[in-house]
Amino acid sequence: MSSPPSAPVPATPPATPRSLPPLPVAGPDPHSFARPGEARVHHVGLDLRVDFEGRTLAGTATLHVARAPGARELVLDTRMLEIEAIDAATLPGRAPNAPLRLAGVPGLAWSPTTWRLGGAHPVLGTPLTVELPQGADLLRIRYRTSPDSPALQWLTAEQTADRAAPFLYTQSQPIHARAWVPVQDSPGVRITFDARVTTPAPTRPVMAAEALSPETGPEGQVVHRFALDQSIPPYLLALAVGRLESASTGPRTGVWAEPGVLKRARAEFADMEAMMTATERQFGPYAWGRYEVLVLPPAFPFGGMENPRVTFVTPTVLAGDRSLVALIAHELAHSWSGNLVSNATWRDLWLNEGFTVYIERRILEAVYGAERAEIEAVLGRQHLEGELAAMAGRPGDQVLHVDLAGRDPDDVFSDVPYEKGYLLLRRLEQAYGRPAFDAFVQRWFSAHAFTSQTTEQLQLFLMTELMDTHAPLAGQTAPDVALWLSSPGLLPDAPQPRSQALDAVASAARSFARGETPARKLDTRGWSPMHWIYFLRALPLVGVDAVRVLGDVDAAFHLTASRNDEVLAEWLLLAARHDYRAADARTERFLLEVGRRKYVAPIYAALLTTAAGQQLARAVYPRARPGYHAVTRGTVDAMLGQAAPAGVEAAGDR
Ligand code: BES
Ligand code: ZN
Repeated sequence: MSSPPSAPVPATPPATPRSLPPLPVAGPDPHSFARPGEARVHHVGLDLRVDFEGRTLAGTATLHVARAPGARELVLDTRMLEIEAIDAATLPGRAPNAPLRLAGVPGLAWSPTTWRLGGAHPVLGTPLTVELPQGADLLRIRYRTSPDSPALQWLTAEQTADRAAPFLYTQSQPIHARAWVPVQDSPGVRITFDARVTTPAPTRPVMAAEALSPETGPEGQVVHRFALDQSIPPYLLALAVGRLESASTGPRTGVWAEPGVLKRARAEFADMEAMMTATERQFGPYAWGRYEVLVLPPAFPFGGMENPRVTFVTPTVLAGDRSLVALIAHELAHSWSGNLVSNATWRDLWLNEGFTVYIERRILEAVYGAERAEIEAVLGRQHLEGELAAMAGRPGDQVLHVDLAGRDPDDVFSDVPYEKGYLLLRRLEQAYGRPAFDAFVQRWFSAHAFTSQTTEQLQLFLMTELMDTHAPLAGQTAPDVALWLSSPGLLPDAPQPRSQALDAVASAARSFARGETPARKLDTRGWSPMHWIYFLRALPLVGVDAVRVLGDVDAAFHLTASRNDEVLAEWLLLAARHDYRAADARTERFLLEVGRRKYVAPIYAALLTTAAGQQLARAVYPRARPGYHAVTRGTVDAMLGQAAPAGVEAAGDR
């Protein structure tokens, strides 16, 4: 049996180019209706009740607003929010520097104000314009979310690890905060916040904030309270509700999980404290107090989300041997690149993700050694090259400083901001040497702490702090940064990470596939998941009987039974691409259990390239889809040509 030519299958299949109707106002951020130059939200006080039956959050958001002289209205972003009433008031004087606490604040003289909702935009939602009465600087918005809010995933008890209670979590990045909180949902508009949250027993809320002491509500219920007094972009607002418990992993670090998962989580993430100290040593103090990781149910569409103080992660990271903790290093790194200094708009995403991948690998190097970091870099560039090849028809999307005007940022997700961003920073490190480069990165963070920055601002800072003031090392040249930022593909001076260990793995794969070296002669002891992934990617499967080779690999190494989800996903991808039907049952179970987009989307895409695979995909997807998060559904729907059920968007978005 011959196999199809192996076309590069990207981690996330090509986005369906979808253009958006233009925004009425061309502001600094094409993904927000807000006009922060006129009136700007500085603080949000949330008072919310979680209703699992109705699948809604309901309550009030109290906004503290500053305005330019003469400004009479405030424009907010909303999406599918039902606005019930809006009142205005004036904040009484308070002690200087006293943190604001506005969640359900009593004793203010509220009076109704007028407001209007604009037309619904399919991606950006609905602008909410509120009149600001003379002297008023507080607005209290009574509202509820829609059961179809794309920011919220409501899970039944059966969709959780312990099957004991329902679960809710938010995912606000990039532009979904507006679908659960009325805010100016642009990463350039930073806010502080406080919150009071009530949930039904036996669940409790965990927010990406500092937990304050709980109170007792009027009906005797526990009211959990939170506050974050460091400013954040709204995409970092986060809430999870479930039967959750915590355990400590060190003086400043800990984990949250369902009780049945807690022990495994704690063991998996035992190196967090060391990672944190290593990052501080190289890039400056951790600004957020504590660092915790919350393990979500398997429907979570991402590997991790860097919500401040509490990173949210997929349970697929729990491999049992700490082999996938690069993900934790990545999300921890965002505490500097992304959370402390944030991208100002979504076209600047590479500032968040490129710096974060760079710091992630520096953390891995410090904690586990240079070899481990380099292995990640080799795999990273390999995957990027595959994606760039698959994006050949979309050169614009290969650009670091990508033009996203009129696009849905969720549709443009790729390795480019991550791995190409990483390569640019590594190129700079090589040119100027680590001491000078590190000093530059440290200053970038310390000089811009708690601000949001554009690519142009980075470019300017790079010139004044590094490139105009330092000579390249002997034998090195300065990169053309403007060209790096504006051109598609990879420039010839892009660094080429190398690992001898991986070179050996690749030749082992070739000689095994050719039948020259039997399995028992391959020394795979000590191979990490990354070695196995490289092995699988290096198997020569074109022009040979791929099904036989994969059968031999499976018989020798039991990959269909792998308990490491990163390896399993790579294996099932190969199986799908080359019509290896012996993995079908495992593929089906995986697609039904796991909702992580990076894993499932490429598998669906590969299944669609063969007749039998297509049949499997079309049989499984209708059953798997209800369990997937909206972002995974969006990607897979586009591939399978399945439109969202009619009316959902239209009914929910007003
Ligand atoms: N912040 C991202 C996730 C994200 C990016 C969500 C853009 C929505 C829009 C997070 O830090 C991330 O990069 N996660 C990766 C982890 C990986 C690179 C280690 C993921 O989820 O795969
Ligand atoms: Zn990231």
